[in-house]
Amino acid sequence: MYIQNGVWVIISRDKGKTFTFFKSLRVRITVILFFIGMVPCVIATNVVVRSYENRAISLREISVKNQCDILCDSLVSEQYLGNPYSDVLNSQISLVSTFYSGRVMIVNEDFKVIRDTYDIDSGRTSVSKEVVNAFDTGKGSTQYDGRNRYILMTFPIKSRSGDSVEGVMIISISTNDIAQNAESLENRGLMVTASVCLAVLLLGYFLAGVLVSPFLKITDAIEDVSDGFTEEAVSVPDYTETELITTAFNRMLARVRRMDASRQEFVSNVSHELKTPLASMKVLADSINGQDNVPIEIYREFMSDITQEIDRENEIITDLLSLVRLDRKAAKMNFELTDIESLLTDNIKRLKPIADRQKILLSLTSDSPVEAEVDTSKISLAFSNLIENGIKYNKPEGLVKVFLTQDKRYFYVTVTDSGMGIPEDQLDHIFERFYRVEKSHSSEIEGTGLGLAITKSVILLHHGAIKVTSKVGEGSTFHVRLPLRHD
Ligand SMILES: Nc1ncnc2c1ncn2[C@@H]1O[C@H](COP(=O)(O)OP(=O)(O)OP(=O)(O)O)[C@@H](O)[C@H]1O
Ligand SMILES: [Mg+2]
Repeated sequence: MYIQNGVWVIISRDKGKTFTFFKSLRVRITVILFFIGMVPCVIATNVVVRSYENRAISLREISVKNQCDILCDSLVSEQYLGNPYSDVLNSQISLVSTFYSGRVMIVNEDFKVIRDTYDIDSGRTSVSKEVVNAFDTGKGSTQYDGRNRYILMTFPIKSRSGDSVEGVMIISISTNDIAQNAESLENRGLMVTASVCLAVLLLGYFLAGVLVSPFLKITDAIEDVSDGFTEEAVSVPDYTETELITTAFNRMLARVRRMDASRQEFVSNVSHELKTPLASMKVLADSINGQDNVPIEIYREFMSDITQEIDRENEIITDLLSLVRLDRKAAKMNFELTDIESLLTDNIKRLKPIADRQKILLSLTSDSPVEAEVDTSKISLAFSNLIENGIKYNKPEGLVKVFLTQDKRYFYVTVTDSGMGIPEDQLDHIFERFYRVEKSHSSEIEGTGLGLAITKSVILLHHGAIKVTSKVGEGSTFHVRLPLRHD
C-alpha cells in the first residue's frame, strides 16, 4: 500500500492488480456500515450524559432550595439580620456551605455582607444584579454556569409578615461532582461506542466481502474470456444487477465475435478478389511465353486482356481504399452547400456512354432546385454507384429514372430501373461487402460487390438512410433520404 497523489493505492496479492483504496466497493460499504454503527452510539452517549447532567443539576437545585428556605425562616425568626452572632445559626450556615461545597453570604437591607462563609467579603457592600433583583422583586434566582461548574442561587429573606425583604442569602455551590460523574459516564459511553465500532468494522468488512463477491466473480469470468480460457457466455445470476451486467457483456461479446468473423471473411474475400485478376494475368502471360513465334495479333489480343485485368485489379483496390477511408470513424467529411440537381446531372452525363452501349435511357426529374450541405465527392460516388447498378443490371433498351425531391428537413433521391430485379431473400445482403446476387444473374456482369457497401457508408456518414424495393424481372428502386443541413 502506498500513497499516490494523496490517494491510497493498494497492491492486491491477486495477480498484482492495483486499485485505489477508497474506490473499492467493499471498503465503501464497510465505511458506510461503520458510520451507521458509530453515529447512533455517539448520539446515545451524548443524550444519556446530557440528560443525567440536567437531572442531577435540577435535583441539586431543589435540594439547595429546600435547605435554604428552612435556613431563611430560621434567620428571620431568630432576627439574625439585626444580630448576626448566633452561634447556632452561624454553624447551620457553615454546615450548608460545607455540605454543598459552596459559599454562603448573607446581605442585609443596607446591602452589607454580614456573613460570608469564605470570610472574603464580610463587612463589604454587595450590590450585584442578583441581590438588587431579590430586594426589588422579592423573588430568588438560579443560574447554572456549566463551564465553571457552579450554581449561583439567591433567596430573599422576608419579614415574618412576608411584606418586605429584610435581606438576601446568596449561595454558590460547586457542581464538580456532577461533572465528574458525567465525564465518567461519557468515558464509558465512548468505550461502548469504540467496541461497537470495532465489531461493526469487522462484521461490515466481512459482510461487504460477501455482497461484493458476485462482482468479483464477474471480473474473473470476463478475464477468463479475454485471456482465452473459455468461449462460454458469462453467467453470474446472483443479483439482478450482475445479471444485467453479464447480459450486456455477452451481447457485446457476441457483437465483437460477429465483427471478428466478418473481418476474417472480409480479408479472405479481399485476398480472393485480388488474386483472381492476377491469376488470369499469369495464365495469359504463361500461354504467350509457352509458344514460339506468336503472331503479333495474338500478342496484342493477350496484352489487351492483361490490360483489362490490370484495370479490374485497379478498380478493386480503389474501391477497397474508399471503403477503408469511409470506415474510419473520423472519416474526414467536407460538407459544402451543393446543388444536388446539377450533381446528379453530371453523374448521368458521365455514365451516359455506358448506358448508350446497351441503349438504356437515363432520365432525371426534379421538383425544385435542391441545395444541401453534403460532402460533394463522396455523395457523388454514392449516387453514381446506384445509377451505374441501374444500368449494369438492366435489359437492353431499358430505363433508369432518377427522381429528386425535398421537404423541410430532407431531400430524397430515388433511382428506379427496369432491370432484372433482386430476389427478396437477398435484399438484406446486397449492402454487404463483396456480396453479389446469385452468380446466375451477375456472373457475366463485372463487379466486385463493393459499390453498395460504399454507397451505404457514405449515406450513413451523412446521417441519411437507404432502402431498396425490387421485383424480379421488373426492376428495382433505391430510395435515399439525406438531411438538407449538416449539424
Ligand atoms: N439495380 C440493381 N438491379 C439488380 N441487382 C442489383 C442492382 N443493384 C445491385 N444489385 C445486386 O447487388 C449486388 C451488389 O451490388 P454492388 O453495387 O455492391 O456490387 P457490384 O455492382 O457487383 O460491384 P461494384 O459496384 O463494386 O463494381 C450486385 O452484384 C447485384 O447482384
Ligand atoms: Mg455496383
